[in-house]
Amino acid sequence: MLDMRMVSCFQRCRCAYRYSHRLYSTVKPKYPPSIDICGTQYPTDEVTNITPAIISKIPIRLHTQPAHPLSNLRSLIESHWPDFAHLSSFSPLVTPFKNFDELSFPKDHPGRSVTDSYYINKDLMLRTHTSAHEVEVFREGQSKWLLTADVYRRDEIDASHYPVFHQVEGAKLYESNSTGMKQLEQDNLRLEQYLAKSNIVIEDVANVSETNPVQERHDAVQAEMVARNLKLELNSLILTLFGGAREGAEGEEPLRVRWIEAYFPFTSPSFEVEVFFRGKWLEILGCGVIRQATLDTAGVQNKIGWAFGLGLERIAMILYSIPDIRLFWSTDPRFLSQFKEGEISTFKSYSKYPSCFKDVSFWLPENSGFHENDFCDLVRDVAGDLVEDIDAFVHPKTKRGSLCYRINYCSMDRSLSNEETNEIHKTVVSRLTNEFGVEIR
Ligand code: PHE
Repeated sequence: MLDMRMVSCFQRCRCAYRYSHRLYSTVKPKYPPSIDICGTQYPTDEVTNITPAIISKIPIRLHTQPAHPLSNLRSLIESHWPDFAHLSSFSPLVTPFKNFDELSFPKDHPGRSVTDSYYINKDLMLRTHTSAHEVEVFREGQSKWLLTADVYRRDEIDASHYPVFHQVEGAKLYESNSTGMKQLEQDNLRLEQYLAKSNIVIEDVANVSETNPVQERHDAVQAEMVARNLKLELNSLILTLFGGAREGAEGEEPLRVRWIEAYFPFTSPSFEVEVFFRGKWLEILGCGVIRQATLDTAGVQNKIGWAFGLGLERIAMILYSIPDIRLFWSTDPRFLSQFKEGEISTFKSYSKYPSCFKDVSFWLPENSGFHENDFCDLVRDVAGDLVEDIDAFVHPKTKRGSLCYRINYCSMDRSLSNEETNEIHKTVVSRLTNEFGVEIR
């Protein structure tokens, strides 16, 4: 039983336990020699960590479901760039080479670890970002394109984090000769004139700096123009998306957007864009000037350009006033019937069902290598979307040896009975004991 007095120090799961990243999982459920993913058998090995709950999401492809808010948002973004190629049917199963190596990720990048990403086996994983397809799309000869897809990252559960989400990747290349640069200059002038008329409040950051440098192989003037073009293009997208499109926006605080310096292994200079929403800055996209190595790998010569990757859920939550990321997966007609193809409308909450809190506290076996994401995936595997939130409580004295979690069980669609919740929780506890060898306190 959890003694509430020990909870003098509790933190969100996210910051409580960041154990060192591991490439190989030391504790994990046993897998059969092969697993079925959408009708195909794949061999498992020592890195396999994909769960049935995650596999069940793969065929759903919310970004292509007619009238779904994520699909509407994809269409809206595509119509902002009508002359770009619009791609949305790439499989989420990719090699780690494609997801990381081709994009210059270092060998020890934390994103590669089994605690952060889902592996089918050591040669196949679920893409963690749409950038995984940059090289192949450039190789096909596309020089301006948008690619929308489901991406997967092991994460905790709360109102704005879910292990499956959707991204739109966009990219544009210019010829790095005088014709290309003349075109770029004209595009920049046109966009600047367009944006000058808007009243959106945007905090900016330098296009290049010592900490966010031009690539060695780039001409500084060209790279700066490309970075400027990237910002102008994305600011005008933000204007299309938020500038008045939000219902009830009138009389509200003006939308606040800020650009900040960032780092990605496959772009330089790099940036992130954040939007102020419900009292917090929410990151909505990452972007930058494409590393020339990426274009070399794709066999593209004499071109320079930018790429961005934006998160559809977060933008849709703001645009539609959807308070919880789990709602995107709801099949309840009270959710789905609210949306029409091609329309942004304000979501009207239907009654919220009561939460049922259950605690579990346990001792870890020594050197267990247990990671909070192992716990989150186990709970999600048992309870699916009935888990609203998981809080980690840190015992100030025993620290890592003992863990305590509070699970908030709550259905979006109905009232959960205490008996039903108890049954689910019992399964969580017994699987925790069997699969991770923990000792329940
Ligand atoms: N792939 C990055 C992410 O998911 C975003 C990004 C895309 C950054 C393209 C730069 C260029 O965080």
